[in-house]
Amino acid sequence: MGRTAIYAGTFDPLTVGHVSIVRRGLRIFDEVVIAVAQNIRKSPLFSVAERIAFIEDVFAQDLGVRAVAFDGLLVDLATDLGAAALLRGLRNGADFEYEAPMVHMNRHLAPDVETVFVCGEQNEVFVSSSLVKEVARFGGDISPFVPPQVLQPLLDRIAERS
Ligand code: COA
Repeated sequence: MGRTAIYAGTFDPLTVGHVSIVRRGLRIFDEVVIAVAQNIRKSPLFSVAERIAFIEDVFAQDLGVRAVAFDGLLVDLATDLGAAALLRGLRNGADFEYEAPMVHMNRHLAPDVETVFVCGEQNEVFVSSSLVKEVARFGGDISPFVPPQVLQPLLDRIAERS
């Protein structure tokens, strides 16, 4: 049986930074399951189904990537899917500070599930979904920061909401 990792997040929307983490994860794991959290706290611009559709489109040619919706504890999803690891991306030290408590809490909850960090590309360390949305709202060029499949739908959604 192959090794599965789960890469969880809100992905509102998927950015090039997320894509890098998934592709690097695929060098280590046979399968990367992208777990899309509803995350009402963040008032997402796209529904979970829309976010999953972007992911399926962007990774259509990447064997071993699939997306699922999830709500609840991440380690429960990991156990349900028989995943060996939680895949996380590190952009900088602040990410590590934010991630460290989650590593230990998740380890407490599911000792057999490892958290594995990979670093994305150097030129993507400042990319986040919120920043991309904010720049787009004010008419800035976000084309380098989101996959081409995401760009126009994102601009359209922002225009609808403003
Ligand atoms: N490239 C680009 N952006 C990145 C990135 C990367 N490599 N890594 C992180 N980011 C961005 C994300 O897009 C997100 O941006 P946003 O705040 O603008 O939306 C931000 O950095 C934080 O990312 P992340 O830590 O992945 O948070 P998230 O809010 O997208 O997802 C969950 C958080 C869902 C993974 C987490 O809350 C969770 O596991 N919840 C399940 C409940 C649970 O098990 N809780 C106990 C945990 S111990």
